[in-house]
Amino acid sequence: MLKGKTAVVTGGSRGIGAAIVCKLASMGANAAVIYAGNAAAAENVCEKCRQEYGVQAKAYQCNVADFSATKETVAKIKADFGTAQILVNNAGITRDGLLAMMKEEDFDAVLSTNLKGAFNMIRHMTGLFLRAREGCIINIASVSGMMGNAGQCNYSASKAGLIGLTKSAAKELASKGIRCNAIAPGFIATDMTGNQTDNPLLRMIPLGRMGEPEDVADAAAYLASAEYVTGEVLRVDGGIAM
Ligand code: NAI
Repeated sequence: MLKGKTAVVTGGSRGIGAAIVCKLASMGANAAVIYAGNAAAAENVCEKCRQEYGVQAKAYQCNVADFSATKETVAKIKADFGTAQILVNNAGITRDGLLAMMKEEDFDAVLSTNLKGAFNMIRHMTGLFLRAREGCIINIASVSGMMGNAGQCNYSASKAGLIGLTKSAAKELASKGIRCNAIAPGFIATDMTGNQTDNPLLRMIPLGRMGEPEDVADAAAYLASAEYVTGEVLRVDGGIAM
């Protein structure tokens, strides 16, 4: 269904990002996997895409918070793949702490990666989308950005900002054939959440379990092919933010 398209996924070497890369590759998309530090993990994901799904896949090391580094990386992707039609802004970090004691650098780091990183990628990829006359941007937000969460003022601010960015980009780019949507995951079992089996918040999930990265990847697959959907925030949270 995505045959011949290229998907760029940030933070694609593990967790939700890796699941999204594999899902889009299983639908026929070539994969440009952006990773922060773990080259071996990123290469493993690329190898899986090539072996199991027969698509082209290449890994690129890039700090998404760095404006000029993202520009250079997008130029490399253009040189390697010709163009790209799908961008998934998945790279994200947490630096949780109580507001009254939060360090300035922890606030800045989270905003720089989660929000500015998405802006940087959209900013540099939009030229490719405009030339291709099509584009699909999927931003991985969080229910924390919709509901707020004590101990996560930096993270929830970054994710709420990402939802605002999503809606503005959707309005601005719709007439050019470019869609922009967000996914708001709840508790998903990855390195970021660690072992949460005794977290009391788990009891508040109507579906009664943590999500898997594949649950979020299924939503990304839907948005990648939902031609009449833009500016949407799709919760994948077992109902917790209902
Ligand atoms: P993870 O920690 O397993 O993966 C995050 C990925 O982002 C890693 O590959 C990491 O290397 C990459 N990354 C971090 N900073 C980067 C940078 N500056 N430049 C490039 N890459 C960078 O986390 P997980 O759980 O897979 O999260 C993926 C996304 O989903 C994040 O945006 C996170 O905020 C979001 N999310 C996760 C939830 C969960 O429960 N796991 C819930 C809601 C949202």
